[in-house]
Amino acid sequence: VGDELIHHFRRARRDRSLVVIEGFHALKHALRFGAELEQAYAVDPEALEALAADLAPDRAGRFAAAVAPIEAATLDRLAPLTPRTGVVATARRPAVDVEAVLADERPAPVVLLEDPRNMGNIGASIRVAAGADAAAVLTTGEHDPWHADAVRGAAGLQFALPVASVEAPPRGGRPLLALDPEGEPLDPRRLSPRAILAFGTERDGLSDSLLGEADARVSIPMRAGVSSLNLATSIAASLFAWRLAAPPR
Ligand SMILES: C[S@@+](CC[C@H](N)C(=O)[O-])C[C@H]1O[C@@H](n2cnc3c(N)ncnc32)[C@H](O)[C@@H]1O
Repeated sequence: VGDELIHHFRRARRDRSLVVIEGFHALKHALRFGAELEQAYAVDPEALEALAADLAPDRAGRFAAAVAPIEAATLDRLAPLTPRTGVVATARRPAVDVEAVLADERPAPVVLLEDPRNMGNIGASIRVAAGADAAAVLTTGEHDPWHADAVRGAAGLQFALPVASVEAPPRGGRPLLALDPEGEPLDPRRLSPRAILAFGTERDGLSDSLLGEADARVSIPMRAGVSSLNLATSIAASLFAWRLAAPPR
């Protein structure tokens, strides 16, 4: 059984229709936002349930029922870094209809990450976008926003909003705003609520082609001498500047 599980998790890490969920917090959000679990294992299902009673009372009673018990030594072989809370799972990825996401009339911006490279950053960006109730997070480039490390970094909040990788920067009739340290200072009151907010790759920033396509180029003002903010923190600053300037009714 151990070998079969190891193969299942290995396969799931390469299969873009599946997602590997590691640790209690990621599993908590996955269950809260409707994940369809495929397989889930915990070293101590009762201890997991006790954690849920404390940290996710809305899901109490669901954890022990969702997981099968597993030996600690087998769990160690299912994840590169054994989750402290002793739980791992696989789930189906929700399908994302990018055109429908872009057409959604709700006054909420779409976050576009142009070729992000760092899984921790991708995860933190998705987490803050979920917290700010953004319409979606779309990424270009090779890195998978549903990679297990990004899911861990986002505490499983990929399940809370549409998250998908796209071939090219989308438009869908929305204004495209480039967030760039060289832009005009951002005035959150003038931010179009359905804008696509584009953020650049960690080292090099936004590409010339995206900057050329953008309707405007705006910056988060910084102290002199600081060249840029971290990618995820710049998303946090922009989304919460927008949210605090125009709180949802
Ligand atoms: C680490 S920064 C990239 C730094 C890169 N050397 C540059 O100058 O763009 C990653 C992304 O975060 C966003 N960012 C960081 N600081 C920003 C600021 N002060 N204003 C607007 N966007 C910022 C931009 O989208 C940037 O492409």
